[in-house]
Amino acid sequence: MSTHNVWTHKGTFLLAAVGSAVGLGNLWRFPYLTGENGGGAFILIYALTIFAVGIPILIAETMLGRASRRSPIMGMRFLTRCHNTSRAWESIGWLGAASAFMILSFYSVIAGWAIHYTWQMLTGSLVGADAEMIGEGFDALLAAPGLLTFYHTLFIVASGLIVGMGVHKGIESGLRIIMPALFAILLVVLVYGIANGDFAAAASFLFTFNIADLSLEGWLAAMGQSFFTLSLGMGAIMAYGAYMNSEVSLTRTAIAIAIVDTSVAMVAGLAIFSLVFGAGLSPGQGPGLMFVTLPLAFAEMPFGALVGGVFFILVLGAAISSSISLIEPVAAYLVERFDMTRPQAVALMVVASWALGLLTVASFNIWAEGTLFHALAGRSPFEFIELLTNIFMPLGGLLIALFAGWALTHSEVMKEMRTSETWFMIWRFLVRFVAPAAVSFVFLRTIPQVEGYLIPTIGALVIVGAFAAGRTFLADGHQEG
Ligand code: PHE
Repeated sequence: MSTHNVWTHKGTFLLAAVGSAVGLGNLWRFPYLTGENGGGAFILIYALTIFAVGIPILIAETMLGRASRRSPIMGMRFLTRCHNTSRAWESIGWLGAASAFMILSFYSVIAGWAIHYTWQMLTGSLVGADAEMIGEGFDALLAAPGLLTFYHTLFIVASGLIVGMGVHKGIESGLRIIMPALFAILLVVLVYGIANGDFAAAASFLFTFNIADLSLEGWLAAMGQSFFTLSLGMGAIMAYGAYMNSEVSLTRTAIAIAIVDTSVAMVAGLAIFSLVFGAGLSPGQGPGLMFVTLPLAFAEMPFGALVGGVFFILVLGAAISSSISLIEPVAAYLVERFDMTRPQAVALMVVASWALGLLTVASFNIWAEGTLFHALAGRSPFEFIELLTNIFMPLGGLLIALFAGWALTHSEVMKEMRTSETWFMIWRFLVRFVAPAAVSFVFLRTIPQVEGYLIPTIGALVIVGAFAAGRTFLADGHQEG
């Protein structure tokens, strides 16, 4: 039983997908990971995976959603039945739900930091502050688990209310203002950074590609980030695809999403690193990077309190349009599968993710060191959850690519893609061979770096995937056209 309605407006999917893609991943995570992983080499791998792997998988994931018109888990169940393939493919849905749940848990904590800075900006508390004062203010925030939990709760409840009341489809009109306005303020900050910071140092840091600079785990982080920033491999795009009008071209939409998303990340990166090098801050300082550099610029620029206040409000808007896309697929599943009401389903997801988020809260203070996570995995709980998402999202993407590339028939794909035979052939080559090879390559390269017990897990998942792929191929080989 398909319970889905379809968005009436043709542009709604594009807007919703951009809303999902553009968020803290572009503004907070991209600059901080780039800084931690030495700059250009990280960007090179990130950009290559966006264009050679991300875009084809974006098309594939939307296709699976639109072809099934169901939530990711039920949708995969439906598609495996239609194509007489192994039910193991349902793991795409499960893996996605697990990723969504983990990402939301820390996403909400970081968005909470933006709530804090919105407040700081609007009350003018940072006007005229210098780098040292702003750094100390940030450290004080991190040292206060109660405050962090309060902000985390506010953000996740707000996201839950939007999805629970079903108004997220109405967010469209808001996004039409938020996205361009956010981009405009980023440009203002970039101009400020060019005038007052060190733009030349930023450009050379970001665009000097020395692959030897990138650690093995840096490769995994770069690939994980390209999936994260496009909201790929975890069901968000599939869930939105299920509501997408059947007439819109997937190819053009996917390319547009990737270009917008990458532009926002690049402008944010250039602005932030101009300020970092101008003020003599460290590029590799970790997750606080955005929250100590941007307030510094707002503290000094004319009308900075106002510009900064508006900026952080827009950041929150972008973050919430992403977090609702994390809740949607899991909630839609609970509704379809267990006949829950929408508010019940959302409440379950949000409460569970909120509780997991407490691990991230504690990672910046009471559990910053000496926990079981440090002993077993050499990292804080937050870093461990990030590592898992860096593995789960590309793995989900890999399975999506294999399923769309091998199990769907020629006519099904053509119906969705609406492009020429040449584009179809290029896309199919990318999802059948290039994307799986690239993801496996990065996984295999990274394995020596990742703790021992993860190796058998990844190995087992790859074997299951390969097995399922083999069965699909056998079962459906005759249908290939
Ligand atoms: N793409 C979002 C961002 O960059 C994060 C996200 C990941 C949202 C996965 C949904 C699904 O902020």
